[in-house]
Formats: sequence, structure tokens, C-alpha cells
Amino acid sequence: MLKIVVCVSGGGTNLQAILDALDEGKITNTQILGVLSNNPGAGALDRARSRGIPGIVMSPKEYGDREAFNEAFTAKMCELAPDLVVLAGFLVKIPPQMVSRFGDRIVNIHPSLIPAFCGVGYYGLKVHEKVLERGAKVTGATVHFVNDGMDEGPIISQKAVAVEEDDTPQTLQRRVMEQAEWILLPRAIDDIANGRIEVAGGRVVRK
Ligand code: GAR
Repeated sequence: MLKIVVCVSGGGTNLQAILDALDEGKITNTQILGVLSNNPGAGALDRARSRGIPGIVMSPKEYGDREAFNEAFTAKMCELAPDLVVLAGFLVKIPPQMVSRFGDRIVNIHPSLIPAFCGVGYYGLKVHEKVLERGAKVTGATVHFVNDGMDEGPIISQKAVAVEEDDTPQTLQRRVMEQAEWILLPRAIDDIANGRIEVAGGRVVRK
């Protein structure tokens, strides 16, 4: 049984996709230990708590400086001891000490086709604003393992989504979620839980 902690910052539609996939048997062999948020007002926490899943709040604002938060966050994750950390719309940079403790056991969903529209400053709606500003005709989503870089770890899966002429950042975000994110993230968790993928030579390969 793969034990996971899901980290969230906002509404939690990706968390909901994971919960639905568990209900529907599309994710097997997996148990959610808890949902951790940096934002006490995150709707995702309500989604978790309504299912009896513990919601944990750890806000950087509660700590004197970023390093104190990083230490406390890493210590909390070590205490929870998941087999996999799932970043499902978590908008806080993962501390290097956590990356070194968890190795290839942290996955992230990003709302673009990495390496386009990613890195520092590219998160949430901002990604879709930049896609529209640039006039890109295709975008999408990526699930990847997390390393010390920003959106740079080995890519697990990607799915392309068309940009429409009359898109707003909001309509594009919704299409990327519906057509890519809510499919890719549950599938990646199921693949990991059932031992179907591994990292070899810095790339993800199917076994
Ligand atoms: C999602 O679009 C996710 O891909 C993005 O934040 C949104 C969270 O929505 N994550 C990033 O931008 C990470 N760099 P949700 O709370 O409804 O799942």
C-alpha cells in the first residue's frame, strides 16, 4: 500500500480528482495519510476533512524566516513518513533538505508542457496568462518528479491541450485541468503505487 501525503495551496480540484479516482478504483493500492496546506483558507482542506482525512496547516508566515519553515516542514513530512509526497497545486518551493530526504518520492503537477512556461514566477493562473500573452496555440500539463530545481525533475507524463482564440486565463486553466491535469495526476499515482515506472539515468521509464 502506497502511503501518500497530498500538499495543496488552493481550491483543491486536483486533490478532488485523486479522491474520485480512489473511489472509482482508478487509483489502487494507495492510502492518503493527510493533506498539508500552507494556506489555512485552502478549500482543499475542507475537501479532505469532509472525507475524514487529516488536514494539516503549515504556513511560512508562522515562522521567523524561510529556513525555519523549511526545517519544520521537512520535519513534519518525516514524521508523517509517506512513501510519496504529491504536490497537487502546492505553490511553495520544496526545501532542498526535503528533496534530499525524499529523493524521487515527490511528484508535482504543473499546468504547462515543461520546459515551456515553467520555473520561477510560473504558477497557477499566471502560467495561462503567459501562454495567452505569447500567443501559443498548444499548452497542456506535466507530472514530474521534484528535484532541487524549479519544475526541472524527471518528467513522468504530459498531455497537450489546444488554446482557443477566445480563451481567457480562466477558460484555458479550466480546459487544461479537465483535459490533462485531472487525468494525468491520478494516473501517475496509480503507476507509482503499482510499480510501473522508475527513474533511470535521470529519465522516467516504464518497467
Ligand atoms: C493547478 O492548475 C496546478 O497545476 C497548479 O495550481 C493549480 C491548483 O489548482 N500548480 C502549479 O502551478 C505549480 N507550479 P487546484 O488547487 O484546483 O488543484
